[in-house]
Amino acid sequence: MRSSFISFVVLSALYNLVQGAPSKRSSSCTGTISSLSDVTDAVECTTVNINAFTVPAGETFSLSLLEGTTVNLNGNVAFGNVSWAGPLFEISGTSITFNGNSNKFDGGGPFYWDGQGTNGGVTKPHPMMKIKISGTWTNVHVVNSPAQVYSVGNPAALTMSNLVIDNSQGNYPNSQSGGLPAGHNTDGFDASTKNLVIENSTIMNQDDCIAINEGSNIVFSGNTCEGGHGISIGSVTSNVVVSGIVIKGNTVINEMQAFRIKTDAAATNSTVTNITYSGNTATGIGSYGVLIDQSYPSTLGTPGNGVIISDITFEDPTTTITVNSTADKIAINCGSGSCTGTWNWNGLLVNGGDSGPVDGFAGISGYTQ
Ligand SMILES: *[C@@H]1O[C@H](CO)[C@@H](O)[C@H](O)[C@H]1NC(C)=O
Ligand SMILES: *[C@@H]1O[C@H](CO)[C@@H](O)[C@H](O)[C@H]1NC(C)=O
Ligand SMILES: *[C@@H]1O[C@H](CO)[C@@H](O)[C@H](O)[C@H]1NC(C)=O
Ligand SMILES: *[C@@H]1O[C@H](CO)[C@@H](O)[C@H](O)[C@H]1NC(C)=O
Ligand SMILES: *[C@@H]1O[C@H](CO)[C@@H](O)[C@H](O)[C@H]1NC(C)=O
Repeated sequence: MRSSFISFVVLSALYNLVQGAPSKRSSSCTGTISSLSDVTDAVECTTVNINAFTVPAGETFSLSLLEGTTVNLNGNVAFGNVSWAGPLFEISGTSITFNGNSNKFDGGGPFYWDGQGTNGGVTKPHPMMKIKISGTWTNVHVVNSPAQVYSVGNPAALTMSNLVIDNSQGNYPNSQSGGLPAGHNTDGFDASTKNLVIENSTIMNQDDCIAINEGSNIVFSGNTCEGGHGISIGSVTSNVVVSGIVIKGNTVINEMQAFRIKTDAAATNSTVTNITYSGNTATGIGSYGVLIDQSYPSTLGTPGNGVIISDITFEDPTTTITVNSTADKIAINCGSGSCTGTWNWNGLLVNGGDSGPVDGFAGISGYTQ
């Protein structure tokens, strides 16, 4: 009985070997995606190659990957145009290596752009790219997002690098935008997360280059931001901690602010602490070099008292900001007692414009207007 069972097992194993037909496919296979119908099979493999294709309008290109998968983007991905909520692309998994190979995801922005972003007009798919992986996301180009580009919620450490976000076409009015720039609310990165590095990337858009809403241990370094609203912490809502944020070696060109911390006037029980800036360069700044404002959504309105901001540092190497003649160098608007701790701004130099108001906090050291 036993020996005949064993010989059955041995024989069928031999049969499978000879036929090359293992009962379950090994995940070391290579999957290829040339249309959405290929996704289900391809994500059973730990190498996934994506060819150029167009995702049907109104559908999400969604990849839920095995641990340790390598993805190669080998062509451009476009998305059919229709007004819907999105997202257009979504990816999840741990220890993922995503190689964009300088290929692009094209969101079809001009189809949606009406100067109103997500505040009005047609429903625009957003975020365009929902990133829920750990590992690396490299060399990916995103052009013409309908509205917000990346929403990042990594499950463990993630480095995003050598990316391009090009929404520069949205800087100009179109027939739908009533004279306003057609692109609006096109935030580069919205991050409510921890253990994230975004490096060596170029972001051309019409809103925050990055908005860090919540989280810790986030590094934004060596990036170039052009045409938007600046590198932002916030807006900070209620019951949120933002801490351990490093903003270094970035180049900011023709943005409304270079660096901004905005907290909601109505927010309660939140803290923003240990934010460090170094070695950044900003030019052509239209409104404020550095804006720290607790009255969001107003600008320099009546500040709230529910968010404590502490330990904001400009350290060496010096961050140099040149603001336009009609702009303010810095503007501080803190609620009573809401800004505290050590604010050493030894590593900040701002040229041009006016001094700007400093209200609600007298503790900045090392910087003279
Ligand atoms: C969507 O519309 C935009 C703007 O007209 C266009 O550039 C893009 O090619 C369109 N996308 C597709 C898949 O047709
Ligand atoms: C970003 O650029 C810096 C300076 O060239 C380099 O040291 C660093 O390794 C780069 N980061 C990545 C993830 O490529
Ligand atoms: C205050 O915020 C923290 C998160 O930072 C949260 O854990 C806590 O529950 C909040 N407290 C109240 C009273 O909501
Ligand atoms: C401040 O943040 C940095 C970067 O995340 C971290 O290395 C450092 O330990 C933090 N300092 C404090 C006092 O928490
Ligand atoms: C700052 O001024 C320059 C030169 O006039 C202009 O090109 C740039 O757009 C201005 N920046 C902003 C953010 O408006």
